[in-house]
Amino acid sequence: MAPLTTASRVLARSAALRMAPAAHVRALSTSPALASASSSFESPFKGESTSSKIPSFGKYVSKGSGATNQIISYFMVGTMGAISAAGAKSTVQEFLKNMAASADVLAMAKVEVDLAAIPEGKNVIIKWRGKPVFIRHRTAGEIDEANQVNIASLRDPEADADRVKKPEWLVMVGVCTHLGCVPIGEAGDFGGWFCPCHGSHYDISGRIRRGPAPLNLEIPAYDFGDDDKLVIG
Ligand code: FES
Repeated sequence: MAPLTTASRVLARSAALRMAPAAHVRALSTSPALASASSSFESPFKGESTSSKIPSFGKYVSKGSGATNQIISYFMVGTMGAISAAGAKSTVQEFLKNMAASADVLAMAKVEVDLAAIPEGKNVIIKWRGKPVFIRHRTAGEIDEANQVNIASLRDPEADADRVKKPEWLVMVGVCTHLGCVPIGEAGDFGGWFCPCHGSHYDISGRIRRGPAPLNLEIPAYDFGDDDKLVIG
């Protein structure tokens, strides 16, 4: 009987050893919330006399189900996303508003001129976007003179008809195309404009005829409105 008893004791011990890890795993797989809610731990890094308790954070662990936690997470992410998007939109909007032209600049973008106040054969100079603009009410003789010029002989070949919308009204930016001086009207060798800075002569169509300027006087964007109104810009 003795050998049988010994054998059964060995078998029982080995079975107990095989079951021990499973029991250990079960103990570890217990919910951490439950484990931490009811216990506190000694710090392993302190001496025995100065050991300190690590508090339990179990009460901060969510009691809700996984689905509830997911909903809360999605809600928080969505809300933060919406707030961030609104902030970004407002920032971009403010930036664009600052970059846009101010009211006084917009007001200067277009200038209206009453043509009835300019007699035939006279010049008027107005200011548009910080530059002088020449408006000449040309006579029939001046229009003829402008059309009789041999275009091929010009430095910057341009027909008079391509520089005006109505032959009697010549509208040009009054800035010399050499270095930017303001030419003088009804002066020069060609009956048009003369730039005293370096001696450029423009004809009655504002085309360069003599001197260092390389191009004709620039024609701005303009249109004729109702009631003898000229709108520049
Ligand atoms: S700036 Fe007019 S000729 Fe030089």
